Amino acid sequence: MRTQVAIIGGGPSGLLLSQLLHGRGIDTVVLERQSRAHVLGRIRAGVLERGLVDLMIEAGVGDRVQREGIPHDGTVISHGDEMFRIDFTALTGQPVTVYGQTEVTRDLYAAREAAGGTLMHGVESVEIQGADTDTPSVSYTLDGQRQHLSCDFVAGCDGFHGISRKTIPETARREFEKVYPFGWLGVLSETPPVHEELIYANSERGFALCSMRNANLSRYYIQCRLDDRPEDWSDSAFWDELRRRIPKPQAESLITGPSIEKSIAPLRSFVTEPMRWGRLFLCGDAAHIVPPTGAKGLNTAASDVHYLYNGLRQFYEDGDSEGINRYSEKALARVWKTERFSWWFSKLMHRFPDQSEFEHKIQLAEIDFLRSNTAAQTAMAQNYVGLPY
Ligand code: APR
Ligand code: PHB
Repeated sequence: MRTQVAIIGGGPSGLLLSQLLHGRGIDTVVLERQSRAHVLGRIRAGVLERGLVDLMIEAGVGDRVQREGIPHDGTVISHGDEMFRIDFTALTGQPVTVYGQTEVTRDLYAAREAAGGTLMHGVESVEIQGADTDTPSVSYTLDGQRQHLSCDFVAGCDGFHGISRKTIPETARREFEKVYPFGWLGVLSETPPVHEELIYANSERGFALCSMRNANLSRYYIQCRLDDRPEDWSDSAFWDELRRRIPKPQAESLITGPSIEKSIAPLRSFVTEPMRWGRLFLCGDAAHIVPPTGAKGLNTAASDVHYLYNGLRQFYEDGDSEGINRYSEKALARVWKTERFSWWFSKLMHRFPDQSEFEHKIQLAEIDFLRSNTAAQTAMAQNYVGLPY
């Protein structure tokens, strides 16, 4: 088989890139290891930057997010019972959109299907050949048959555990990592959100986050130990601990219910450089991971897709390689800024096990500075709503 761009990974990055390139008549084949149901079964974050919503509109999948997405003009930061609001719209002119990553992926699948896109599920043993030549190809096994796909370019959109990053020789790449000494225990419940906006809570007992998907589907997280297991936490233990970490009025008005999903996510900051090796381009989690504080994972994947899509469009339409030649540099410049914001926000809002009294005091002073200083709030808001592409 032959295509122009072979895309490894049918998560949001791969699907968005495939749909955008389709809009410009550029052919792609998406190879996904898991089933569609498995990919859609993953519960991930749900705060979209304007840039991602605009890309979805350009890709022809903007209707539902514009209809069902909830614009949020701000967010709440709390420490103990104290809380203050960061007014995104007043400080930056822009809201964010609350719309689950699962829904983004669902919309993209529907669009690829409607366009007759080539999307293979259940592929195994994917291998990339000749990425450092002008004739790259990808081989894989499907239904027991070894297949071979030749292409002009390979987009590695296969996440942190994929094969694309590892295809780049260790001598040709550098990795930067920070692992945080705690995780997030997340619960999804069919209950009304405790507050109309997200609450990021710093408490003596650790971090908590009150988020939502819609008026009757809420998503809550509490900072937990890395060796905790979801089954160690009954629903009532979770709700009790959440109540201890959020301001009293919200703790009293919190409506609880059975968890329909409960999982623990580790917190990690990770970047690999470069994001291009010959004809192989890494996008999204294949190249970088951010801790979920600030919901930058999907949004940073989208900015990668923006740069790669425009570089490939320029290459195929104008015969100009400038965009793809500068892809890694441009994508990494924005990636490191979102890494910095996600690290800063994580440092500000969590209790670190080895935190000294002095460091704790500094953390509280930084929260108080954010509460009382417009310049600090503006910087936070600009990063939260999304830095320009
Ligand atoms: N062959 C084919 N597909 C693979 C392989 C492989 N060897 N390895 C992984 N995949 C698939 C996974 O099954 C997954 O569906 O690649 C896809 C990668 O998708 P994501 O991990 O969702 O990564 P990405 O599309 O970059 O989206 C980034 O996802 O994890 C969140 O917080 C993250 O929000 C961010 C977003
Ligand atoms: C979520 O809704 O799942 C969510 C929101 C904001 C975050 C992380 C997760 O920072």
